[in-house]
Amino acid sequence: MSVKAAVAALRNGDLIHLPTETVYGLAARADDPAAVVKVFEAKGRPRFNPLIVHIGSVEAADIIGVMDDRARALARAFWPGPLTLVVPVRDTAAACDLARAGLDSVALRLPAHTLALEVLRGFGGGVVAPSANRSGRPSPTTQADAFEETGTAVTVSLDGGACPVGVESTVVSLLGAARYLRAGAVTRAQIEAVIGHLAADEAEGHRSPGRLSLHYAPDAPVRIDVEVPTEGAAYLAFGPTAYAGPVIQLSATRDPAEAAANLFRALREADRLKPPCIAIAPIPENGIGEAINDRIRRAAGFIG
Ligand code: TXA
Ligand code: MG
Repeated sequence: MSVKAAVAALRNGDLIHLPTETVYGLAARADDPAAVVKVFEAKGRPRFNPLIVHIGSVEAADIIGVMDDRARALARAFWPGPLTLVVPVRDTAAACDLARAGLDSVALRLPAHTLALEVLRGFGGGVVAPSANRSGRPSPTTQADAFEETGTAVTVSLDGGACPVGVESTVVSLLGAARYLRAGAVTRAQIEAVIGHLAADEAEGHRSPGRLSLHYAPDAPVRIDVEVPTEGAAYLAFGPTAYAGPVIQLSATRDPAEAAANLFRALREADRLKPPCIAIAPIPENGIGEAINDRIRRAAGFIG
């Protein structure tokens, strides 16, 4: 299906599958509550969890939110790319109340994916796009996985290939002191190199609202930091292993970026084996490892 059809569907208030460099999004125009409500319904997502508004240019971001010097510097460094900026909202019609869950801030993201950019530039305005999974499930990183999750809700499902990053965008709040709300491919250190120190505070009140519930969970129970799996477990390995049961490699060469790209697909593949449990190898916490460990701790129910 074509970009033209996707833009027409958005204009019409319908949902589409939007491929991005991180994960597939379930997208709708951000200025129309009747369109945005369909996203919450299709995902079974609680309405208090605000959505990211995707734009195709910094100019479009400027219309919707207040981009201060820090936001501009981060946009110059990382847009298009897997970074979402939470800033004060400027135009509450362009990103409707439902999209923002009534907050006076808005999360803005300019994705680095050719198809996504063509759709966003063709449409012109802001587009909400949470991951295209049903709420609580692993995010889809291929069109087939997106279709399995929310295929019945969309008018157009674009195929942009496998997502190269594989975990959702980094979220940084610029409301007051800068805060790292969600780990992603753009690391803390990379953000600090541009705007200086990030507030360390991870207190509940400062977290992204969407971070408070069980996420990314397959059907089988998940165990993490497993060096030697118990018999029968499906094992998500990170490098060579002597385990004789079913092994799915996150990265045979222990490359964290490759492990991130494979993570959600590997969880789905493991689940299809209907194992008594899914065991995941320890992943080093540095770089994108922070994002991987955040997602697998949530899948295991350790952050809830
Ligand atoms: O990589 C991504 O960001 C993907 C792709 C499809 O672009 N999208 C995505 O969207 O992950 P979503 O809606 O699943 O994640 C939105 C995150 C949640 O953690 C939410 O709480 C947070 O951003 N968020 C949105 N608006 C916010 C706001 N005004 N203040 C604080 N956090 C906000
Ligand atoms: Mg999600």
